Amino acid sequence: MAEVIVNNYKEATAILTNRDFAQSLYDESPEIMQDVILTSEGNTHINRRKIEYHLFRKDISRNYEHVDFFKILKPIINEAYTNGSSDLVELSYLVTMNVTADISGIDVPKDFIKTRKLLKLVKIFSEGATLVHSLKDKTIIRNQVLDALEVFDREFYSSSLKRREKILEKFECGEIEEESIPKDILTILLRNKKKLYLSNDIIRREVAFYLQAGSHSTANASTHAFHELYEWIKSHPEDEDIIHNDKFFLQKCVFETLRLHPASPVAWRKAIKPSKILTKKNINEGDHIIIDLWKSNRDISVYGMDATKYNPYREVQKKLPPWGLTFGVGAHACLARVLDGGEVPKANTDMNKHNFGLITCFMKALLDKGAQTTQKNIPQLDDKTERQNWGKYPIIFNKVK
Ligand code: HEM
Repeated sequence: MAEVIVNNYKEATAILTNRDFAQSLYDESPEIMQDVILTSEGNTHINRRKIEYHLFRKDISRNYEHVDFFKILKPIINEAYTNGSSDLVELSYLVTMNVTADISGIDVPKDFIKTRKLLKLVKIFSEGATLVHSLKDKTIIRNQVLDALEVFDREFYSSSLKRREKILEKFECGEIEEESIPKDILTILLRNKKKLYLSNDIIRREVAFYLQAGSHSTANASTHAFHELYEWIKSHPEDEDIIHNDKFFLQKCVFETLRLHPASPVAWRKAIKPSKILTKKNINEGDHIIIDLWKSNRDISVYGMDATKYNPYREVQKKLPPWGLTFGVGAHACLARVLDGGEVPKANTDMNKHNFGLITCFMKALLDKGAQTTQKNIPQLDDKTERQNWGKYPIIFNKVK
């Protein structure tokens, strides 16, 4: 079995959009990843995706961005603002963990203690999911994942499940209307359990997968987005106004961040059939393909000679994503791309009907409160991972309360 590395945009897209290459990054992590949407292929995957997609339609995402997101964001950001300072890494995790729990169908009381507890469990799930990259003892991690799943079941999942089952029973008896049914992954899977041939274990793993898929990626992207904005304003003070007042421009800034900081630097696929890719490399069945998203997103043939630089004024060719391959592409492309990143606006886009994405909305809320870094307490990268993520990002709020 050969290993093939793909590090340019065109070939990366060719592999990711070809059904002859199957997901393989999570092969060592069945405890947490077996049969979830991201590791399913063929009709099982197509049917699951069709059902779950209903929660991520553009109109639903827009409504979430305009209404539900602010119900979560407001109390968290207001508390930080009242304190006068915060750590943006922590703040981003609090916001995104609550959002992701909401979408996954896990009820989290509004006290932040429970959110932090859930986050701890989800971090263990993620460590279990990315076991292929781990340098730690894999048996220990697998056991930690199994223990975390038990705690998750006891403290979060069972009660969320029971509540939804009761609601669905009431709906079946005609006691409540469709509008009273929660719009989340757990509920949608319970309603389609037979149609999708889902076992209880698969449903629980799918919900646990959603919790990790949404939380780390969005939290890290948010801290990166703020950092890049802040640094840009420092070196381009003339852009401060446009960043504060033009939400379309702010979204362009977020697109650049997403392109330069893909949540996962690589995607993995294994060939299920022999084939050729663009550079005419022969691929045999079973070959292992490492798609370098980090390098593909910096491909100068697509993003220009300054592709490695952050430039919110970048003009990207029509139909090419300004966020690069950060949300993936093809069969397994991120279902929450519009929700988190928004859509690319056209010249005549009405801002009231536009999806800016949750990250842009979060940035706007931080800027409106005068969030800024402090000389005393400098942000630090996370030294526990090789990925370029922030470990500590102290901020203060300088707007008069
Ligand atoms: C900045 C934030 C995010 C980034 C960068 C991101 C990135 C990605 C990428 C690269 C993939 C494809 C992986 C592959 O092809 O191997 C993916 C898939 C997925 N993401 Fe996201 N994601 C983000 C946020 C979210 C959120 C908030 C959710 C849900 C709450 C979510 C749900 C999913 C799901 C369900 C899939 C699997 C789709 C499938 O297999 O059909 N993601 N994401």
